Amino acid sequence: MTPAPAPYYESDRGLAEYLDFHYGPEPEPPFAGLPWPAVGNFPARCVAAGLPGGPLPAGARALDLGCAVGRSAFELARYCSEVVGLDYSARFIAAARQLQTAGELAYHRTDEGLLTLPATARVPADIDRTRVRFATGDATALPTDLGCFDVALLANLIDRLPDPRACLARLPGLLRPGARLILTSPYTWLAEYTPPDHWLGGRPGPTGPESTHDALREALAPHFELVATYNLPFLLREHTRKYQFTIAEATIWVRRD
Ligand SMILES: C[S@@+](CC[C@H](N)C(=O)[O-])C[C@H]1O[C@@H](n2cnc3c(N)ncnc32)[C@H](O)[C@@H]1O
Repeated sequence: MTPAPAPYYESDRGLAEYLDFHYGPEPEPPFAGLPWPAVGNFPARCVAAGLPGGPLPAGARALDLGCAVGRSAFELARYCSEVVGLDYSARFIAAARQLQTAGELAYHRTDEGLLTLPATARVPADIDRTRVRFATGDATALPTDLGCFDVALLANLIDRLPDPRACLARLPGLLRPGARLILTSPYTWLAEYTPPDHWLGGRPGPTGPESTHDALREALAPHFELVATYNLPFLLREHTRKYQFTIAEATIWVRRD
């Protein structure tokens, strides 16, 4: 019998694509003369754009939910003394821990078919890796002993959860008054990750189309103030001739007193 394929976030392909997405070379036009979007490094931009005030006071804590292979958690360490990176994928967390210990990790990026190109993921040398701790965990059933945070990042997580509202409901209790919540998502709802009756939006409703942006405002408004909304485009490389071009929406929220 053929074994079932590994879920994407536990697979060789998923690991290589996310190492490349977080640590790979800046996506450059592989073919001279063709138009190419200049998007930069997505995890680094999520953090820098979400924290325009610069580093937080000593002792500040950040939580990166759905941290994958860890780049945004390392970037948060530029701003906070302590960072907890949490992801459901044991494979991704193992890679993030290797990057924390050694500062680098070798991998292979797909060139074409079975052909690959050797590459090395590296944490920027000016980041204090000792500030970051990685753990496996479920963002919809978080442990009760995480403590309180000054920043939470949920980058492209909500539309990969079986029950996004269960995750959102924990945020008020995890964030101190004045804390910042950085939420990005392209709102790519798929039944394979989220049963349609748990989608936050992207469906027709009784009074018209229901958008995820409006549903987030409704869910978060009792405890958070929306302070900024902007677009964050990114490229996820599959192989030399194929990239996914996506435009996430970033919403930045501040925890009310
Ligand atoms: C689209 S990726 C985004 C990863 C990363 N934040 C980024 O922006 O590159 C979604 C991530 O959520 C993780 N994930 C999926 N379900 C989860 C859950 N229930 N709890 C925690 N992480 C989860 C996946 O393993 C994956 O790393």
